[in-house]
Amino acid sequence: MCPPTGGVRRGCAAGTIVERPAGPTTEELQPSVARHLITSALPYINGVKHLGNLVGSMLPADVSARYLRAAGHEVLAICATDEHGTPAEIAASDAGVPVADYCAAHHEIQRDLGERFGLSWDWFGRTSRPQNRALTAHLAARLQSEGYTEIRTTAQVYSVADGRFLPDRYVVGTCPNCGFERARGDQCEQCGKQLDPTELIDPRSAISGSTELEVRDSAHVFLLQSQLADRIRAWVDTKSDWPQLTRSIAYKWLDEGLQDRGITRDLEWGFAVDPEVFPAAAGKVFYVWFDAPIGYLGATREWADDLVAPEDAEAVFDRWWREDRGADDVTYTQFMGKDNVPFHTLGFPATLIGSGEPWKLVDRLKSFNWLTYYGGKFSTSDHRGVFMSDALELLPADYWRWYLMANAPESDDTSFTWNLFGEAVNKDLVGTFGNFVNRTVTQIVRHFGEVVPSGGEPGEAEAELATRVDARLADYVACMDALEFRKAAAALRALWTEGNLYLERTEPWKTVKVDVDTTACTLRTALHLALLYAVVSEPFIPFTAQRLQVCLLGDTGAALPLDPALAAAVPATLPAGRPFTPPGLLFEKLSDEQLEEWSARFGGADSPDGTGGA
Ligand code: 2FM
Ligand code: ZN
Repeated sequence: MCPPTGGVRRGCAAGTIVERPAGPTTEELQPSVARHLITSALPYINGVKHLGNLVGSMLPADVSARYLRAAGHEVLAICATDEHGTPAEIAASDAGVPVADYCAAHHEIQRDLGERFGLSWDWFGRTSRPQNRALTAHLAARLQSEGYTEIRTTAQVYSVADGRFLPDRYVVGTCPNCGFERARGDQCEQCGKQLDPTELIDPRSAISGSTELEVRDSAHVFLLQSQLADRIRAWVDTKSDWPQLTRSIAYKWLDEGLQDRGITRDLEWGFAVDPEVFPAAAGKVFYVWFDAPIGYLGATREWADDLVAPEDAEAVFDRWWREDRGADDVTYTQFMGKDNVPFHTLGFPATLIGSGEPWKLVDRLKSFNWLTYYGGKFSTSDHRGVFMSDALELLPADYWRWYLMANAPESDDTSFTWNLFGEAVNKDLVGTFGNFVNRTVTQIVRHFGEVVPSGGEPGEAEAELATRVDARLADYVACMDALEFRKAAAALRALWTEGNLYLERTEPWKTVKVDVDTTACTLRTALHLALLYAVVSEPFIPFTAQRLQVCLLGDTGAALPLDPALAAAVPATLPAGRPFTPPGLLFEKLSDEQLEEWSARFGGADSPDGTGGA
């Protein structure tokens, strides 16, 4: 059972799946509308994302956005591709195309995959767009005028053959600590020691392999985070409702002393600094981690520019981001993998707080551990693990969405295995949800035709079902409000199970031979439950849920609220005598052969934990 939370405002009427004379009043049923801004960590532009990336930010953000919309709240869900930095430059150079072209093409690839996965962004933007350029320049100038920037000269490795400065991790060589020959300039992957690239023995460029390297001085803009530490700590102190993982990461960095941070780089690709604001850093570009989180604002501004006339766009944008211009009643939730937590609890807030302007700061921060592939890393180069494009080639999005969210790496790292995937699909989707809907619809069509059965009155079995459904639904809603997705999925699974238990208790296939009226009531109740499932399951499995809703209600079916009052609203929406369309099988069972084949194809069989494939 999830604890109640203050995060989401709503009405508190209890519901029931059974027709009843006196329900809650309209006022009781009306949840109060809250405003929710939702962002998921912006995926790097280079390469198709794997299932671990998906479940660590974009998918839970979508599940939450869908849930809050269905509960009647005003939601703005924002994502974008994170396009600057050396990895994008290198990926473009490997592909033999200009970096701007590479980013444009890969943005479309990621958008297409996201949409096919049902990610219902209100806007999917790009950090390289002019809106983000303007906001990045604005915030950098504000930080400068507030006295939170400084120019410092740093020694950096320059590769003569590549004609460019090399970021630390693009200098490789032998670790002075353990002798590992492929240590990176920022850290040795073998012994874990933090390194400076100048410490490496036999250093070379990771880009070209050239050893013709020089150390040159370069002037950069630094953000004086050390001077903002007290204000950031005071703000973090107000976040007593953040999960322990998030708070401990933030305090660890604060306790160690927040370091000043270079926010410019010697690269070609990125937003050029304004030479009038930072003359000593003319020719540099902003560091990708400076402009990427500002991309949340940038993408929102893209959305506003697209939505309204130019003269209204600023006000529409401000209503979500400026506390002094309407965003004071917004609840802002961020979703990310645990590696992103320091940037979102310290770095990005330092930018916004240091600007001296009343920008909206994050309220709820949901971070995830890693999804591994059989205990090891997903790897593009070794083609190990399942990527978003592979997944959609095999099965519809809902199969993946359910498995991933029901096993989300919330309290610990979680390992993808084909076995677990097969179980989630075959037991939950096929055996529980699909089976219940199929049994119900088959019996109705056989005995009553394609209409909601008429006759009979609810009795003891229906009253018991109503009590159980109300409890399960309340549990589900509480878990969703608390952003506890695994528990929410478990509550949803338990709610689906109630349907099968009800059919087993009432046995309509037997009663139809002796009591048609009672059977009609049983099957009508079961069909109402199927409609309830179609509404409550939508955040997790939107394609199937919508298909079922359309079959039961038609295209113009009433919008039902996903809240504790739902059960009371269902019977009137699907009254006796109303025709419906049988949906057919909702999910296909996965065979052992399929799972074995996929396991061999994607590398599960040679798993590091030795558990093999499916
Ligand atoms: O770790 C990542 O995938 C980054 N691209 C996340 C950026 S989140 C935000 F700051 F843009
Ligand atoms: Zn080492």
